[in-house]
Amino acid sequence: MLKGKEIILGVTGGIAAYKAVELLRLLTKAGANVHVLMTKAAMEFVTPLTFQTLSMNPVHSELFNLIAEREIGHIALADRAQLFIIAPATANVIGKLAHGLADDLLTTTVMATKAPVLIAPAMNVNMYQNPLYRENETRLRQHGFHFVDPVQGMLACGWEGEGKLQDPQLIFEAALALLARKDLAGERLLVTAGPTREEIDPIRYISNYSSGKMGYALARAASRRGARVTLISGPTCLQEPWGVETIQVTSAEEMRQAVLVRSAASTIVIKAAAVADYRPKVRAAEKLKKTDQPLILELVKNPDILEELGKAKQGAFLVGFAAETFDLVRNARKKLTEKNLDLVVANDVSQPGAGFNVDTNIVKLLARDGSVEELPLLTKDELAEQILDRIVALKKG
Ligand code: CTP
Repeated sequence: MLKGKEIILGVTGGIAAYKAVELLRLLTKAGANVHVLMTKAAMEFVTPLTFQTLSMNPVHSELFNLIAEREIGHIALADRAQLFIIAPATANVIGKLAHGLADDLLTTTVMATKAPVLIAPAMNVNMYQNPLYRENETRLRQHGFHFVDPVQGMLACGWEGEGKLQDPQLIFEAALALLARKDLAGERLLVTAGPTREEIDPIRYISNYSSGKMGYALARAASRRGARVTLISGPTCLQEPWGVETIQVTSAEEMRQAVLVRSAASTIVIKAAAVADYRPKVRAAEKLKKTDQPLILELVKNPDILEELGKAKQGAFLVGFAAETFDLVRNARKKLTEKNLDLVVANDVSQPGAGFNVDTNIVKLLARDGSVEELPLLTKDELAEQILDRIVALKKG
């Protein structure tokens, strides 16, 4: 995702510096070439060797060592960078940047770069709420600096409150968003994800193996590419994506209500959820007690949300998923026609590496114009990008 991207990661001296190691790992795993700059204080918390080993680049901290090199180090780095991340960023570094001070390698390089700068603050809650800090942050925002806000939590200083560094995964998401092309700007995308649960009694339900990973990957990718995204999610273990409005639902009927309320305002609807086709006719109010008799559960059909959207189709581009174990293309084409869709993502869930509860998928994309595009084994993140590419191309016509 970040192949060929040059990123500077500035690490300043806070207890959260160790979390920058995790961020670096995410960036390099995604293919970025990362150059780590550390302040002297940061080195008190984590050794440069850790960052050097993971980034496979020398770690810089000295302004004058670099100047002694053949090229002016900090200027060369600042020129080359496509993104500058400071995580964690202390109140001190934010204060210096807000006032144009450049008294060490990190602040000097920020001053010299034309790349977007993403700041992830971490500090004591009282420092974070201090009006001087707030003024500095506002000033930097006005000058186009980007922020990933800290979160509430137990702080290392013993106080509880806002000031804890945001989860490295979400800082990574924010970084991806800054580097992504914005070809979905202006689109309003509605995506559903995960399974639904149909309750039998207060403690039991019918569901399926869907993990929600595909729908969440689509929501993240579309948001990065500039769409305003609403994610309607059945129960999953996944973290709500950064920058995406996420609505949690449980049953198919709840999902239906949530989708219908929002679909009219959407320009693209992607139904990646594995909606339970049936629910128990009666949900017992009390826990069902076992008896010696066989238990027969009567099921009734759930509404088909996608079909309903297809019938009432106005302007929105409709995308459905078809999970099949046989006759993939024929069954998927039938869904495309019967549900009045623009695109179907068809996967043979009996293949290893495809379908439910895995990180990869193997699909065919069937469009309304009759075309069938066969994709190789891809991670769900890669596949999300390909599906969105296809939607962008088909919408252009
Ligand atoms: N879908 C839906 N509402 C339902 C069932 C399915 O919106 N009650 C949507 C899914 O989100 C998916 C598509 O329909 O995008 C296809 O789902 P799938 O379960 O593969 O197919 P079904 O239409 O349910 O048909 P069948 O179970 O017979 O294969």
